[in-house]
Amino acid sequence: MAADSRTIVAPTDAELLQAQADLWRHSLYYLTSMALKCAVELHIPTAIHNLGGAASLPDLVTALSLPQTKLPFLRRLMRLLVTSGIFASESGAEVETYRLNPLSWLLVEGVESEDHTYQKYFVLGTISRHYVEAGLSLADWFRKDLPAPLPSPFEGLHGLPLFHETTKLLDEELDRIVNKGKAAHDHLAIGTVIRECGDLFKGLQSLTDCGGGDGTTVRGIIKAFPHIKCTVLDRPEVIEAAPAHDSVTYVSGDMFHSIPPAQAVMLKLVLHFCNDEDCVKILEQCRKAIPSKQEGGKVIIIEILLSPSTGPIMYEAQLLMDMLMMVNTKGKQRDENDWRDIFIKAGFSDYKIVKKIGARGIIEVYP
Ligand SMILES: C[S@@+](CC[C@H](N)C(=O)[O-])C[C@H]1O[C@@H](n2cnc3c(N)ncnc32)[C@H](O)[C@@H]1O
Repeated sequence: MAADSRTIVAPTDAELLQAQADLWRHSLYYLTSMALKCAVELHIPTAIHNLGGAASLPDLVTALSLPQTKLPFLRRLMRLLVTSGIFASESGAEVETYRLNPLSWLLVEGVESEDHTYQKYFVLGTISRHYVEAGLSLADWFRKDLPAPLPSPFEGLHGLPLFHETTKLLDEELDRIVNKGKAAHDHLAIGTVIRECGDLFKGLQSLTDCGGGDGTTVRGIIKAFPHIKCTVLDRPEVIEAAPAHDSVTYVSGDMFHSIPPAQAVMLKLVLHFCNDEDCVKILEQCRKAIPSKQEGGKVIIIEILLSPSTGPIMYEAQLLMDMLMMVNTKGKQRDENDWRDIFIKAGFSDYKIVKKIGARGIIEVYP
């Protein structure tokens, strides 16, 4: 008799054992996050760096001022973190030695390098009690039939939105940590974008960085392309705190109402905080701020671009960043089809994915 398509074929013994191990991994991955948070809070990356880039367990115990009785426990923590790709280790050596890899290098405090942005606060924010509790409330959130505008699980649970002027009323320390984490996240790899996608800026006379924060990105662009007249638009409280720069014009305002005109408007890591309707509204303002395509008018968008073609690990990272937005904000990460729909709705005629670098896509959109 032909097998009913609804019949579950019993797994083989090997499949069953693999399935159980996979279930362990997926149920317990949060412990990897907690182990990472522990390493950051103990300053393990900085200690390894200060010890010359390699450290044995006894070195680490001494450098971190931990009780000697914790050495075997530290070994178990480091073993998981090495296996998870957070540190490197010298395998086969007589004394096990731990080293920094590119990931743990980003967690070293006080590195003087243009391409180093300290990611401690991204880790502490994303693995904070408030985020974890919001994640735990997800099934309840799905069951509730709430009226629009739909609050995120974070807002539904904690009563206030994240990344908002009211977030500090929920928890001042959380607000401080997540803002520092967001800045560190946004500033990472600016140099790479400028080096790998220099053609984006070549020949540009003027650029408005919309939601440009404290101007870190445009300062990098001006360094490489000093002839570009750069303007940063952001909220008044952000502009007030931005460092002065001779070649940058800072404008306080609201991107939903008006954007300072320029040959190109850039939106870097801004639209992933917005739902589709708000993206369309912002892009309509961008369209008003730029000249025609023939005159070189364009909008430059730099965002995570969801795509399985980036490979399973990068795609998983992109999807986790999408879940991060879904659980904690009203935003989302988008694939090319999502972006195309938004560009058409906002009245643009065409777009080009200029380059994909890492998880990010660089898109030019033309009026
Ligand atoms: C995620 S940050 C991105 C910062 C910057 N583009 C970068 O990549 O470093 C989003 C920025 O948009 C700004 N923003 C949010 N809503 C805004 C609005 N309605 N008008 C102007 N700026 C806004 C925020 O203050 C924040 O600086």
